[in-house]
Amino acid sequence: MIGIIGAMASEVDGLKAIMENVEIDTISSVKFYKGILNNKEVVVAEAGVGKVNAAVTAQTMILKYNTDSIINIGVAGGLDRSLSIGDVVIATKTAEHDMDTTPLGDEMGFITGINRVYMDCDQRITDILAECTAELGIHTVKGVIVSGDQFICRNDQREKLIGMFNGAAAEMEGASIGHVCAMNSVPFGVLRAISDGANSDSEMDFPTFAKMAAENSIKIIKMYLSKC
Ligand code: ADE
Repeated sequence: MIGIIGAMASEVDGLKAIMENVEIDTISSVKFYKGILNNKEVVVAEAGVGKVNAAVTAQTMILKYNTDSIINIGVAGGLDRSLSIGDVVIATKTAEHDMDTTPLGDEMGFITGINRVYMDCDQRITDILAECTAELGIHTVKGVIVSGDQFICRNDQREKLIGMFNGAAAEMEGASIGHVCAMNSVPFGVLRAISDGANSDSEMDFPTFAKMAAENSIKIIKMYLSKC
């Protein structure tokens, strides 16, 4: 069973609409849609925005549906300078940019317990996603996706995420899903289409372009399911 998590309705509705044999469970206020998509058993959920919602959803998928991999899809603010709206970032690893125990001597982003900053994405998932975007002719950057409970729309925030984490894109869920998957030894991937530049235009660009970008990521995950 493959788990697919989006934060917002626009990030998963296009998948729910084409699933077959759908069974729905509501757990911790999140609706889980289990069914068949491109001949694969999947469970799809709209988690809600932010790291806690995403973590609850990922942990539930693992315990209730025994998912053997989880992919986080949706939109992100672009940090890599080559990115334009509609382009794609595939995570090679993720980091929680707002995890801060630096006063205790830790590196920024360090997660005590599992004792690391970066969660490695599954190489096979990342490679197949990249094959899909190459076939679709979408400009794609593979790199670090950073997550935090903040909408990034100021230059100082943007430059910090590039400087500290070499971030390629910023969003609000991927790294917490990575964190949960690492705790459970479940392979994971993060696929994000760019809705804005994580800059002073983002407050305007996000509402304008998020739906279009979310549709891009849905197109790619559908192709992924036919290849994986
Ligand atoms: N998701 C899409 N754009 C974003 C931004 N600028 N900051 C955080 N999450 C986002």
